[in-house]
Amino acid sequence: MKLPVQPVFSCDSFGREVGAPSLLDAGEMIYLNRGSLAIGHALTLMGLEPGSEVLLPAYHCPAMVEPVVWAGFSPVFYRIQADTSVDLEDVEKRIGPSSRVLLVPHYFGFPQEMGKIRAFCDRHGLLLIEDCAHAFFGESAGHPVGFHGDYAVGSAWKFFPVNEGACLVSSRHRIVGRSLQSGGLFFELKSVLNTLEYSMEHGRLGMLNDPLLRLMQCKDWLWRNLKRKAPEEMQGGGNDPASGFEGGRVSQRISRFSRWVIESSSKSRIVQRRRANYLRLQSALEKMQGGRPLFATLPEKVVPHVFPFLVDRPDAVFPRLKSAGVPVIRFGEYLWKDMERGTCPVSEEYSRRVFQFPCHQDLAGEEVEWMIGGIRDALGYGEDVS
Ligand SMILES: Cc1ncc(COP(=O)(O)O)c(C=O)c1O
Repeated sequence: MKLPVQPVFSCDSFGREVGAPSLLDAGEMIYLNRGSLAIGHALTLMGLEPGSEVLLPAYHCPAMVEPVVWAGFSPVFYRIQADTSVDLEDVEKRIGPSSRVLLVPHYFGFPQEMGKIRAFCDRHGLLLIEDCAHAFFGESAGHPVGFHGDYAVGSAWKFFPVNEGACLVSSRHRIVGRSLQSGGLFFELKSVLNTLEYSMEHGRLGMLNDPLLRLMQCKDWLWRNLKRKAPEEMQGGGNDPASGFEGGRVSQRISRFSRWVIESSSKSRIVQRRRANYLRLQSALEKMQGGRPLFATLPEKVVPHVFPFLVDRPDAVFPRLKSAGVPVIRFGEYLWKDMERGTCPVSEEYSRRVFQFPCHQDLAGEEVEWMIGGIRDALGYGEDVS
């Protein structure tokens, strides 16, 4: 069975229901291409002097650090606690004369206590970037996620069935009305084709799936030829979430297709199905030997990005999951190489031991059961994993 790691486009994606508070309710918003580019965009709006310091969590992915370095600022890493909350005492110790910004992520969709963090930033004269890449939906301190930050960034492709897309939100600063760049014709086309292709690979387009799949096989040939002939400005880019940070795209707007899909998606379906899949994984895995869910419970208003699981023996289990074809996401696997070792023992441990399994809205019940079986086997349930 080949399980989709990301949401998959289908007729079921659409609907008008709102579901839960989200970034869309948090303030003014512009749609951009990637979450990391939205961080870069926010940093350019702040008007900071070169060499300013940005406080970042020691548990991170490179996509959170790259925009800081690209903008000419210095990352300073702070500790998190075992429950993934920001260790504000540690942040306080690391504030220096050049510190200007604090970036705070809602790991895996579980919101930080933003009231407290906002007050901390106000006390210390720091600007706040609320990193909602894992939390498009949810609430903190009585407001939608994204409300408390000077700027908030979301990574839409992690929650919606599109292959790119992000948003930048602010309840405190004007961000609408600035001119954004188009990604170009090829970028617009690729957004449609890549999204449909992913959907076909997973057989989600009903009766149209097979004929369209055959058509797509011709597309690769056509694509190669068109690309070779196209002038450079038409080549487009930013359709591959795995590609690295491209600073030239910090002001590139989302494709029309991705925006339409996001705006037309049923938000309540996303909320309900993610929570249901998460809870199923939780009940199956909470008593299993070989690891435990990172969070003991799923609070009522949390809409998870993934199901994070703390594995006892990651080096033995990871290859087993891979060879069984169980999809695993490893946020934080690679920590920034210049971060001093020992900065945050919790982050270093989570970097090695926290594996994340998808729980998105487009996983069917039997797919979740299959994944549970694969995880159970990989953990060596009932045998010696050594
Ligand atoms: C917490 C966090 N912030 C920001 C990003 C960057 O988002 P994007 O992949 O849309 O560039 C990621 C990417 O995974 C992330 O995990």
